[in-house]
Amino acid sequence: MDNNPSKAISQHARTRRVILFPFPFQGHISPMIQLANILRSKGFTISILHTQFNSPDPSRYPQFTFHLIPDGLPEDQASKGDLAGLIDRLNTNCVGPTRECLGKLLSTHDDVACMVTDAMMYSSQSVAEDLGIPRIVLRTSSVCSFLAFASVPVLLEKGYFSDILDSRREDPVLELPPLRVKDIPGIQTRNLIDVELKIIRSMVEGTKTASGLIFNTFQDLEEPNLANLKEHFRIPTFLIGPFHKFFSAASSSLLTQDRSSISWLDTQKPSSVIYVSFGSAAKMDEKDVREVAWGLAHSMQPFLWVVRPGSVQGSAWLESFPNEFLEVVSQRGCIVKWAPQQEVLSHPAVGGFWTHSGWNSVLESICEGVPMICSSLFADQPVNSRYVSDVWQLGIKLEYGLKREEIESAIRKIMLDRQGQEIRGRALHLKEKIDVSLKTDGFSSQSLNALSDLISSFKSSGVSVGSE
Ligand code: UDX
Repeated sequence: MDNNPSKAISQHARTRRVILFPFPFQGHISPMIQLANILRSKGFTISILHTQFNSPDPSRYPQFTFHLIPDGLPEDQASKGDLAGLIDRLNTNCVGPTRECLGKLLSTHDDVACMVTDAMMYSSQSVAEDLGIPRIVLRTSSVCSFLAFASVPVLLEKGYFSDILDSRREDPVLELPPLRVKDIPGIQTRNLIDVELKIIRSMVEGTKTASGLIFNTFQDLEEPNLANLKEHFRIPTFLIGPFHKFFSAASSSLLTQDRSSISWLDTQKPSSVIYVSFGSAAKMDEKDVREVAWGLAHSMQPFLWVVRPGSVQGSAWLESFPNEFLEVVSQRGCIVKWAPQQEVLSHPAVGGFWTHSGWNSVLESICEGVPMICSSLFADQPVNSRYVSDVWQLGIKLEYGLKREEIESAIRKIMLDRQGQEIRGRALHLKEKIDVSLKTDGFSSQSLNALSDLISSFKSSGVSVGSE
């Protein structure tokens, strides 16, 4: 497959600098590092700004230069669990240091074309405007979920967030079919708190005034939403994913990937294993753990389960797991702290993926043609899982939280029933479309060329700009 953009270097060789600033979480750092590699392969020089919190390891990327932005967060920030507060503080705290760092970069380099920053680093928009540098936004998730975020202020006015009664949670959102009330971003906590609303508004408004918008997704998947996207965001938009088909995310993993999961998969029958992972941020309580454990045990299928240390409340790792369940694991399961996920998904023994519906996981699963079981917790996850089940029909959504009977039944459907086979057929068909999209004349490749052209068309910044 001709999907290696490095081949295009000679055609698009440019010596312009792009400054990237990821949002410091695994699900955002990986796609930004992948994008950095993609842009470098198009001939751009890359500088990366990063916070101390969840810092990438610069020694793994000698091809880029790194600049630390002091984030003013306490050391134990990760254990506090207040995600909205963290996003807000990161944005507020990083404004001054970002301006100072950019000022220095501009006074020492005359080749700066633009910044590419995560949609969640929305405060970088005002910094870019002040310094006269174009900002392009990277949204690391799906178009469908971004449109749901963009609709939150309207849905708020229409009363969707007031008095969320259990009886209304399954109702359709007429403005955003096929979403249900319970899928609306921010509604999971039952009340949209002020800081969440501020974050959503800032992310959406910051994007509307940016110079471009990049998505890690592809045209065939998002077609039904593209007209709506153009209406909301009247800026150049580039769907150039899936990024990991250009460059793997393995090197940007913040946790060590346990390769024993691959040797264990090597001992299993083809398409027999259900792989279970809830990403880098989700937490579960003991009750949830029991439901997941017994759902897996009763399904009678072999399973590979990623349990991140600290992801079960009150436990360092597996201490709160039922003993009888750990006996089941020794017969037909494997539990690891962190796995080489892309390799796991492409392993012939894996027949299904139970995911929390984080966008990277959904894309990685689609790219390997693996049917999904979707649960979801917050942010874009409920929207992603609704689209996986109801629109793309690539998986089954667990509609009512974590209940062992529903889990057992979904695993059997995906792994053993006709429904699973049909999903697998659709997934493989889409996988072929991705390969076409990444060919030289495919949509993602063409969109990447258009992005390169836009970046090259920006006037070089780099006059002496004083720092604050
Ligand atoms: C977060 C949000 O939760 C998600 O909704 C949003 O779309 C992106 O930011 P996260 O929860 O970590 O991301 O999920 P996801 O987007 O799926 O990213 C997880 C990444 O970690 C994937 O690239 C996956 O391959 C990797 N991973 C996961 C591993 O390398 N090993 C594992 O064991 C589990």
